[in-house]
Amino acid sequence: MKVLLTVLRRTHTAALRAANRRSLSSSPGSGLSPLRDEPLVVGSSSELVRRIGSQVEVRTSFISEEEEGAFMRELEPGLKKKRYEYDHWDDAIHGYRETEKLQWGAACAEVLNHVRSVSFPDGSELLGPVHVLDLDKAGYIKPHVDSIKFCGCTIAGLSLLSDSVMRLVKEDAPSEWLDLLLPRRSLYILRNEARYNFTHEILKDEESVFNGQRVPRLRRISVICRNLPSLTA
Ligand code: OGA
Ligand code: MN
Repeated sequence: MKVLLTVLRRTHTAALRAANRRSLSSSPGSGLSPLRDEPLVVGSSSELVRRIGSQVEVRTSFISEEEEGAFMRELEPGLKKKRYEYDHWDDAIHGYRETEKLQWGAACAEVLNHVRSVSFPDGSELLGPVHVLDLDKAGYIKPHVDSIKFCGCTIAGLSLLSDSVMRLVKEDAPSEWLDLLLPRRSLYILRNEARYNFTHEILKDEESVFNGQRVPRLRRISVICRNLPSLTA
């Protein structure tokens, strides 16, 4: 199981780490404006937000508090048996534990069907097991591109327990970037160019700022559905 989850991600490179050190030009937030009044996608230029914005989607309140509770009841017993991993310097993720799950109870299965129906192109073959990633409060995801060998054109993820900021950086032009605000209980979808030509990462708590506004990062669990690479691609 560990092997599959690890190959889903391509390890970040030194160049990507350098890109990640680029600091945002936006000013510090006043902390006064509520998150719901903010845009969910900002970027290095309005042209990029328009162009790549069509290949990223953030749907707020995609699941209810009750549905989030159903996921936690199904996931927490298994996750609690694992320890958070911090020390693998070459891993794309720091401070995490993860699992895959194929069989779900009725409430979660219904949500996952909904996720799949809004996210994937018709007829695309899906990766059967759903990927569950539990990031500790101190955990974060470094810039990486998901394996093109094992995953297809679309990545869809539910965020449980915490708001977070996902950053996309163009692989061959690190000055081109998008930040996505991922509120707790939202669904994000990355498609095509946004998935293949941009790295994605989840910012650590100390750097978790969206459009100048601080976004505290608590423990965060993501539930991620992927499709398989198409045979004709
Ligand atoms: C991954 C990944 C994003 C998330 O596991 O490859 O990018 O939302 N996860 O947890
Ligand atoms: Mn990924």
